[in-house]
Amino acid sequence: MSRALYAGSFDPITRGHLNIIERASKLFDKLFVGVAVNPDKKHLFNIRERHQMTTDAIRDIGIENIDVVEIPGLLVDYCNQYDIQYFVRGLRVSTDFEYEMQMFKINRDLGNVETIFLPADPNQTHLSSSAVRQLAKFGHCLDTYVTKNVYSALQNKYSNSDSKSVIA
Ligand code: COA
Repeated sequence: MSRALYAGSFDPITRGHLNIIERASKLFDKLFVGVAVNPDKKHLFNIRERHQMTTDAIRDIGIENIDVVEIPGLLVDYCNQYDIQYFVRGLRVSTDFEYEMQMFKINRDLGNVETIFLPADPNQTHLSSSAVRQLAKFGHCLDTYVTKNVYSALQNKYSNSDSKSVIA
């Protein structure tokens, strides 16, 4: 049984991530979507919130062979523990490649997990979670970038903050 892990901060999950998830789910018997921690980032949503948002967004597109999981530690450790043979990584633009190659090499050194790269949909190569957060912070409509549940979560998160005063 082929088992793969597509991991990210998903802070929040975007339609770009969902496109990769949908395509990857057709390549493997089981796809784990790992809501992970990037120690270099200060996350807007905590891991529980990101898990819930990701689960709800994936439920909306109705794919069966997916489990959304929380991974607070190293991805390779999780893969070894749950017998996952593949990492799925999305590539948007050429600058992603160098970073991804570094991650690929480190993960290969740490564990016996192969990496499969999927090119992002050409219409979504400009998407990122931080761009979505910024737009939401200033009240922009995001239908084409995120699902309804994510948009609501962003609105709730920012509803109490005085975003307009941050412009300066
Ligand atoms: N569509 C839209 N956005 C995309 C995308 C796509 N197809 N692919 C990537 N992105 C965005 C992400 O949203 C993220 O945006 P942001 O920087 O604005 O938050 C950015 O591109 C980078 O994505 P990624 O490289 O996946 O970073 P991440 O923070 O989402 O996830 C982890 C990084 C969690 C996978 C990584 O830190 C990790 O592996 N953590 C666990 C510890 C570990 O095992 N480390 C490895 C050994 S050093």
